Amino acid sequence: MSYKILEGKKGIVFGALDKNSIAWKTAEAISDSGGKIVLTNAPIAIRMGNINELSKKLDCPIFPADATSVSDLQDLIDKSVEHFNGKIDFVLHSIGMSVNVRKGKEYTDLNYDWLKKGWDISAVSFHKLLQVLYKSNVMNKWGSIIALTYIAAQRTFPNYNDMAENKAYLESIARSFGYFFGKNQSVRVNTISQSPTLTKAGEGVKGLEGFLKYSEKMSPLGNATAEDCANYTVMMFSDYTKKVSLQNLYHDGGFSNVGVSQEIIDSI
Ligand SMILES: NC(=O)c1ccc[n+]([C@@H]2O[C@H](COP(=O)([O-])OP(=O)(O)OC[C@H]3O[C@@H](n4cnc5c(N)ncnc54)[C@H](O)[C@@H]3O)[C@@H](O)[C@H]2O)c1
Repeated sequence: MSYKILEGKKGIVFGALDKNSIAWKTAEAISDSGGKIVLTNAPIAIRMGNINELSKKLDCPIFPADATSVSDLQDLIDKSVEHFNGKIDFVLHSIGMSVNVRKGKEYTDLNYDWLKKGWDISAVSFHKLLQVLYKSNVMNKWGSIIALTYIAAQRTFPNYNDMAENKAYLESIARSFGYFFGKNQSVRVNTISQSPTLTKAGEGVKGLEGFLKYSEKMSPLGNATAEDCANYTVMMFSDYTKKVSLQNLYHDGGFSNVGVSQEIIDSI
């Protein structure tokens, strides 16, 4: 599926680590749709992951940036504008990490230093990114900025741990900054709330396999895959969604509005 709806548009994709990453699939979908990309990730992820493979395939540069560092972000934005020889049309923030989840800490026994680190990476990095973009005035009019989130921001999923708060914070930043970006630069800011997906970040959540099956049975259309999410993001970067902003957009096969499905009732 490719309609070249991003022809002439240029942007930055954060968070492609390996082939399973939602950002990886999104970079491919953007390229198929005619968009030009700069890839970025934390320096350690560039060393450990396979992003070089993606960069070769799509013929686009990688500019490293730790998303918690304002100076790294400024450097990335400056290099991207120079590379594109002009302003930016779209940005994907596809970043998430909880040290407590990674180290198996229960929600009722959180380590607060780890909590702060995860919050900085998963949520505050979005504010830092938006602020650098805003102050540098590098977004084209009708540009589009997306961050990926999960419904644990609204409803309790016990094993999602402190990432639930990080996602709630992230979604709030999209609304708050979206106001100023809309008013003063005609740029839209939204979050996409994606189905559970098998990726490196997803694997960290205890019991993900069982949860994927549960979610599949609950969603009238089934779980949205990473490829589906990539296509949705392409649409959100296109001119077909110019007046959509400050929204948390559920992309989950209908999961968010189902109380219970017949399959779940049958299975118990
Ligand atoms: N997998 C799921 O079930 C699911 C569901 C809904 C939303 N999401 C969200 O989608 C986004 C992408 O996750 P994914 O599932 O593709 O997993 P992933 O592990 O492939 O991607 C996470 C990315 O975050 C990057 N990252 C971590 N720390 C960073 C830092 N300091 N600076 C820059 N980048 C950093 C990692 O290097 C990695 O590329 C995350 O926000 C995640 O929470 C995932």
